[in-house]
Amino acid sequence: MALDGLQIIQIEVGLLQNFNELIADPATGECAVVDPAYEVDRLLKLARDRGWTIRTVLVTHTHHDHIDGVAELCAATSAVVRVGAREADAVRAAAPGVEVRPVSDGERVPIGGESIEALSTPGHTVDGTSYFTGGAIITGDTLFVGGVGRTDFPGGDASTLWRSLQKIAALPEETRVYPGHDYGTTPTSTVGWERTTNPYLRCATEEAFVALRTGKRSPRPTRGPR
Ligand SMILES: [Fe+2]
Repeated sequence: MALDGLQIIQIEVGLLQNFNELIADPATGECAVVDPAYEVDRLLKLARDRGWTIRTVLVTHTHHDHIDGVAELCAATSAVVRVGAREADAVRAAAPGVEVRPVSDGERVPIGGESIEALSTPGHTVDGTSYFTGGAIITGDTLFVGGVGRTDFPGGDASTLWRSLQKIAALPEETRVYPGHDYGTTPTSTVGWERTTNPYLRCATEEAFVALRTGKRSPRPTRGPR
């Protein structure tokens, strides 16, 4: 799918139904990989088959199912890892010797001649980050198709997640949503679709959202690490 000059390829990997993306500037062949944790060989082959060079790893957050492949992928490519500052040490611990450069809210990360904007979206974890191309947003475990991330892991906070979700919900309705897991009815959706159908985004107030997310009122059973 071509968006704003960037091409995005989504694949599903691992037993937790994680999504990974390759985000490329086809004009230069430079690309970024999101959250490598499983099947690094497959990610490398996808890039190689297209003549793309992986220069960057974009980490949405540092749960193991999003970073376990960083060391292997960076050893093969010398890619630089971008991650929220307060989660940078978790990447350094999981992938010693890898170059880690923290991103800040609103920072534009170059991909070839294009760029992607880091949006700070904590709440599922202490310093989660989403990445916005202008036409699509990589949401990690902040927003799923029809759901949102859990807030009961260390560093999670439902009120913080609510504020992060408001940032995403304020993007143009046609913005395509690429979540961190295949937990919904479709692999991707749009901001407009989530605003109208996602029970968490339909909450009228922060209080209602916190009650829903923390299990005081649940629309469906939760499953797996989200
Ligand atoms: Fe997670």
